[in-house]
Amino acid sequence: MLSFSYLAVAGLALLCHVSATILQNGQVRITDFKNTKIDRSAYSFTTYPRNATEISYQGRWDSQYGSWWSAPGIKFGYTGQTVAITFGNMTSPGVLVGYRIGGLDWQFTNITAGATHLLVSPDTPGSSLTSPINPWTFELRVTNWAYGVQIDAVHVAAGQKLIRLPPAARRIEVIGDSLAAGMYTSYEGLSSWAYGVGAGLGNTDYSITAYPGICAADQDCWGNPRGQVHQWFYTSDTSWRASQAFGDNPEPWDFSKQPAADLVVINIGTNDQNSHNNVSAAVYADALTKIIQGVHGKWPDAKIVVMALWLGFHQTGNSYFPDAPRGFVNEVRQTVEMFNSNEYLENPVTYDGVSKKSSRTGKKTEPFVHLFNTTGIMQHNDIGPQWHPTDVGAIKVASHLLQYIKMTFGWELEATGPEVFHETLYWNDEPGY
Ligand SMILES: *[C@@H]1O[C@H](CO)[C@@H](O)[C@H](O)[C@H]1NC(C)=O
Ligand SMILES: *[C@@H]1O[C@H](CO)[C@@H](O)[C@H](O)[C@H]1NC(C)=O
Ligand SMILES: *[C@@H]1O[C@H](CO)[C@@H](O)[C@H](O)[C@H]1NC(C)=O
Ligand SMILES: *[C@@H]1O[C@H](CO)[C@@H](O)[C@H](O)[C@H]1NC(C)=O
Ligand SMILES: *[C@@H]1O[C@H](CO)[C@@H](O)[C@H](O)[C@H]1NC(C)=O
Repeated sequence: MLSFSYLAVAGLALLCHVSATILQNGQVRITDFKNTKIDRSAYSFTTYPRNATEISYQGRWDSQYGSWWSAPGIKFGYTGQTVAITFGNMTSPGVLVGYRIGGLDWQFTNITAGATHLLVSPDTPGSSLTSPINPWTFELRVTNWAYGVQIDAVHVAAGQKLIRLPPAARRIEVIGDSLAAGMYTSYEGLSSWAYGVGAGLGNTDYSITAYPGICAADQDCWGNPRGQVHQWFYTSDTSWRASQAFGDNPEPWDFSKQPAADLVVINIGTNDQNSHNNVSAAVYADALTKIIQGVHGKWPDAKIVVMALWLGFHQTGNSYFPDAPRGFVNEVRQTVEMFNSNEYLENPVTYDGVSKKSSRTGKKTEPFVHLFNTTGIMQHNDIGPQWHPTDVGAIKVASHLLQYIKMTFGWELEATGPEVFHETLYWNDEPGY
């Protein structure tokens, strides 16, 4: 049952490249996607090229300023009350992006390839507020993993300027599949638990290298030609869009483009454990091991949290129970234990996914791999009919993980107000029962 449905789901997402309406329990959600496209020649702007140092790129972007994976974005400070962006012609037609000023709620708009969009004007809510936060900051994120934008130029009002924001004090990377990418949540990447952890920590830059259907093992899984043990080392994901853009020569990710991550959360293996993909336990454990060694090689000081996997639920009699097996439980635990063994810590190994070489670092290390057990966080109604967390399920995973990160690493939760999950404000205001 699970494997059949998962097949239908992941396969559909990979093959079907038309945009879909947001459905909420089968009903069309009423959305307010503003039409922000303008005729650039009718405006006088101060324009910055896409490589301006004032623009901070979040997540993975290629050498032509095209975005990849889940919830990639840009951030900058600005003066005045105007921000417009010209998008390159490699932008996915109609791609939905979220954008916001400061810590206000997200707004959404569909982007036209090659067009200029006016995203902030004096009429934009929040644009003319006086604020304790200076300068005004602008952030944009792509909602869907399979689509992307290409930045061509950023504009502010004539005579105004962009301001470079310092990198956040902390950096987090999430490596995963559809579960981390936000598949089947309302705003996809911007409703995912991975985003919720990054944005919920506050004062943290985050990058989500997750793609639906992908395995840890380097083989075809649900149409993804490569696994994370290979693809994580590359700029682009395993989408059809990436194969069109790069063919067989994707750009290796230049890890020097961004500061090292302090914390890496890995949630990978749900597709490996699915019998459809024929990944043996040994091949999965080897791939997970190499991903961890890869992270340790690129970012020697990063802490790593490996998440135990979860599957769906079924009803038996008058209650609900998790589907068994829960997915490579022993392999996940044993891999984490291996990394914490004295033998390993005395003589750790790193892996490079581009050269495919493992090497001994010859440098003793402190334990850096942690296991986050997900058992008991989600209940049967936190998983939607398409076998992925609902918005509520994603928020539960994010909340527990945030608390785990706080308690394990002493990271304070610094997002103390700014809207994180869009359209999750629902309540009962009926006092008179
Ligand atoms: C805007 O994006 C949403 C979400 O992908 C999509 O359902 C809708 O069709 C898009 N609208 C336009 C006009 O492209
Ligand atoms: C941006 O690109 C232009 C054209 O390639 C180049 O001349 C300029 O030096 C670059 N600027 C920065 C800040 O890298
Ligand atoms: C896309 O933009 C680039 C750079 O402006 C241009 O050279 C190229 O011809 C454009 N391609 C298409 C298909 O419009
Ligand atoms: C999985 O293995 C079975 C039996 O060896 C084979 O029939 C099937 O084609 C394989 N599936 C994939 C996706 O490789
Ligand atoms: C997570 O906890 C459950 C229940 O305590 C346990 O059965 C399972 O083995 C644990 N998972 C891992 C990967 O250790």
